[in-house]
Amino acid sequence: MKRIRTHWRLLVIAVAGAAAGLFLLTLPAPEQVAAQPRTPEPDVLAAQAAAGDPDAPGPTQPIPFSHAWHAGKYEIECLYCHTGTDRSAAAGVPSVELCMGCHSQFQYAQDENGESLEPDGLKTLKQYWENKEPIPWKQIHRLPEHVQFRHNRHVAAGVECQTCHGPVEEMDKLHLTEDTVWWPWLLPSQKLEMGWCIQCHRENEASQDCLVCHY
Ligand code: HEC
Ligand code: HEC
Ligand code: HEC
Ligand code: HEC
Ligand code: HEC
Repeated sequence: MKRIRTHWRLLVIAVAGAAAGLFLLTLPAPEQVAAQPRTPEPDVLAAQAAAGDPDAPGPTQPIPFSHAWHAGKYEIECLYCHTGTDRSAAAGVPSVELCMGCHSQFQYAQDENGESLEPDGLKTLKQYWENKEPIPWKQIHRLPEHVQFRHNRHVAAGVECQTCHGPVEEMDKLHLTEDTVWWPWLLPSQKLEMGWCIQCHRENEASQDCLVCHY
């Protein structure tokens, strides 16, 4: 009897799911949304300029991509773009396909001179897409070959991205942040240095065995 009820429940869920699917089909198709030309949001050009500012700390990237805009204002989850972080050693940087999942839906209006209002960074993004080329993002965090670091171990232990990478969701242009822990000799250690790893491992009773981090 209990078994049968469970089956009934599954059936109800399936029917509800199908109904929700049908409802989604009645919404305007992406093509129709895209057909409405868009003017960029008021702050988007400022975010783009700050992300591409050559004088701000950090390497200038091939596309002025703002984390403050995407992860801050739009609250897109870190793991949506850095999908490997909780599963594998490397966090990875998103593919052009993932960016285009959103950006292929936006079409931009023209100004009175017939110039597209599309932000320049998005024009560059679409060039990579059309040429089927990956975006050559410049890497910011890179440990030497002899060190082993695994994201998933840290994410599983509940260490926040921001503890190691700083307030990413407030940064237009990404850069290596300084450690905020001051050492007895009053110099902050630079992140990614061995002392930085050891300091936190000591505080959290994680392993300090040389062979855990070194092959
Ligand atoms: C979940 C949806 C979404 C995804 C995924 C996404 N974006 Fe965006 N992005 C937006 C929205 C919304 C805007 C604002 C557009 C506007 O106002 O017209 C924007 C703005 C931008 C801008 C202009 C502002 C800035 O940050 O300089 C650039 C450049 C950009 N995106 C590049 C990218 C790249 C590169 C990727 C992939 C790594 C990406 N986007 C992924 C939604 C997304
Ligand atoms: C819409 C996609 C997107 C989202 C959401 C996003 N990122 Fe990123 N992230 C990127 C792209 C593209 C790059 C490479 C360009 C750059 O460095 O700005 C990057 C680079 C990074 C880097 C530097 C990688 C290196 O080269 O060392 C870190 C660290 C990072 N992201 C952390 C985060 C954190 C933490 C969050 C959430 C608060 C987040 N990201 C949300 C797309 C995203
Ligand atoms: C305990 C510190 C720590 C935490 C927590 C952490 N990272 Fe990292 N991250 C690093 C280090 C160290 C590197 C350099 C790794 C290397 O060179 O092998 C790195 C590299 C990266 C990169 C560069 C690409 C790559 O795969 O090497 C991205 C993107 C990134 N982290 C995103 C994130 C995101 C998103 C989170 C949260 C889900 C996060 N990190 C949590 C320390 C951390
Ligand atoms: C903000 C704190 C913090 C920082 C910084 C940090 N770690 Fe960790 N790490 C931890 C914690 C907590 C664990 C324990 C995870 C567990 O118990 O599974 C851990 C576990 C590990 C492990 C797995 C240990 C094992 O027993 O298998 C390795 C390897 C490691 N960290 C390497 C590094 C390296 C390399 C760095 C510096 C580039 C670093 N960690 C920086 C907190 C940190
Ligand atoms: C929690 C991780 C971790 C542990 C444990 C650890 N190291 Fe390291 N070690 C690193 C990182 C990260 C680097 C690279 C960054 C740097 O050079 O500061 C490094 C670099 C080194 C270097 C090269 C320094 C240089 O200037 O090139 C030596 C030698 C070294 N470690 C020896 C050791 C010995 C010996 C132990 C055990 C007593 C040990 N490490 C334990 C993370 C660790």
